[in-house]
Amino acid sequence: MSTGVVDAGLIDELTGIVGTAHVLEDPEMTAGYSIDWTRRFAGTTPLVIRPSDTAETAAVMSVLATAGVPVVPQGGNTGLVGGSVPLAGEAVLSMRRLNECEPVDELASQVTLGAGVTLAGAQAHVASSGLSVGVDLAARDSATIGGMVATNAGGINVLRYGAMRAQVVGIEAVLADGTVVSHLAGLEKDNTGYDFGSLLAGSEGTLGVITRVRLRLHPTQPERATALLAFETAADAVSAAAALRRSVASLHALEAVFERAMTLVSRHLGVAPPVGSLGGDSHRGPDGGGAWLIAEAAARTDPSDELGAAVEELADLVVDAAVALDPTSRQRLWAFRENVTEAISAAGIPHKLDVTLPAARLAEFVDGVPDVIRTADPDAQPLLFGHLGDGNVHVNVLGPDGVEPSEEVDDAVLRYVAELGGSISAEHGIGTAKLSQLHLNRSEAELAAFGAIKRALDPAGLLNPNVLLP
Ligand code: FAD
Ligand code: MLT
Ligand code: ZN
Repeated sequence: MSTGVVDAGLIDELTGIVGTAHVLEDPEMTAGYSIDWTRRFAGTTPLVIRPSDTAETAAVMSVLATAGVPVVPQGGNTGLVGGSVPLAGEAVLSMRRLNECEPVDELASQVTLGAGVTLAGAQAHVASSGLSVGVDLAARDSATIGGMVATNAGGINVLRYGAMRAQVVGIEAVLADGTVVSHLAGLEKDNTGYDFGSLLAGSEGTLGVITRVRLRLHPTQPERATALLAFETAADAVSAAAALRRSVASLHALEAVFERAMTLVSRHLGVAPPVGSLGGDSHRGPDGGGAWLIAEAAARTDPSDELGAAVEELADLVVDAAVALDPTSRQRLWAFRENVTEAISAAGIPHKLDVTLPAARLAEFVDGVPDVIRTADPDAQPLLFGHLGDGNVHVNVLGPDGVEPSEEVDDAVLRYVAELGGSISAEHGIGTAKLSQLHLNRSEAELAAFGAIKRALDPAGLLNPNVLLP
């Protein structure tokens, strides 16, 4: 990989494209772009460039390619695997100014958005059409549509609508040499060759810079019912989750918080969960045995009877249940799930392992992983939560007094996941955090094909060179 020189001539060329206000060199101005949300990954950058549209992005990429300067595309910088920050002195290409929302195409139920539009901005833009974006996540106020496609973000509604890749019906991107590839018609059926949207979804900024995205939208399901269910054991929660998936046609989200994480988030919020007990009789084993599920049903007509009947069927498993229908009460229940990430980061710098297990191994994993972690680092504290309806567990690990746990923890957990037939990255991506473990899920032949695709689109290796590909 070439590492070009950032000199006055290059700065002049870049300011000529985006304007002096949008080429940042002052370390005080670039610092926020150089550290990730978790504070685990930080570097330095000689410059941050902030284009406002596709043409400026293409011109910037062409100049950087000619100069041989490596570049990290960055959206909202909410990524959790260290993929959005300069790790070895790369330039940062901030995409946040590409924030144009085109009118909603109500005939097609689609919308074209600039890569820098935030998820919350997109949700607000489409709401009056009675349509919704299919992916939702707690970082909605900062995460951008471009970043969400680049990571193939998941979130809380994957069991209903799929992850971000499934929402993309058209894409526009700039390749490493400044070439623009644009395919935004959004035809539902379009078998005219390679699908750039699918290829760029999950590519983590290594194959192209996404500038515009055409999204499939879904009819809004305005009537909601939310249940918080408490369980004695992880195995009971896993069995209940499977039953709810089978029996509730309007199931919209099915999330889990396990006991240590529930204890932490309750302290952070200063409120005890309305159902279940923390560290009481249900406290079995070093991780605490208790588990909570949040199940949300959403439909055009009130789904509370359907959810209520399904919960009653689970009487043998559920210790206690709270059901909420109005937005304020529902939000009170959701707070115990949506604030877990923030509560963990307030307690220290976690290692965030984001894994999927086959349904048949899920309970075994939740019960077994705390011991795997403590064997690798006796002082480490496991905190488990996640999107249980998708088999996706977030295994967060804190060291004592908030310091980072040993790196061996990551390797031990991800090997355990692979042994059980799971994925080492469910939704956050590989980034730099899991580079050395990618081989656990991908064969040599697959990795060689990844490398061939990368070299074809970015022969000089300038796009996010320290991410995803070993
Ligand atoms: P960034 O963090 O800026 O970048 C992420 C990656 O995408 C980097 O590799 C970057 O180079 C690349 N990239 C960014 N923009 C572009 C572009 N325009 N073109 C090409 N590459 C680009 N994730 C989930 O999947 N599910 C969740 O439920 C979830 N919840 C979260 C909750 C919180 C509180 C936080 C802080 C994060 C959460 N995340 C979740 C992680 C994060 O929000 C997602 O990964 C999100 O998709 C990142 O979007 P971003 O705009 O912040 O991208
Ligand atoms: C979540 O589901 O809350 C996110 O993926 C964030 C996290 O893993 O901390
Ligand atoms: Zn998640």
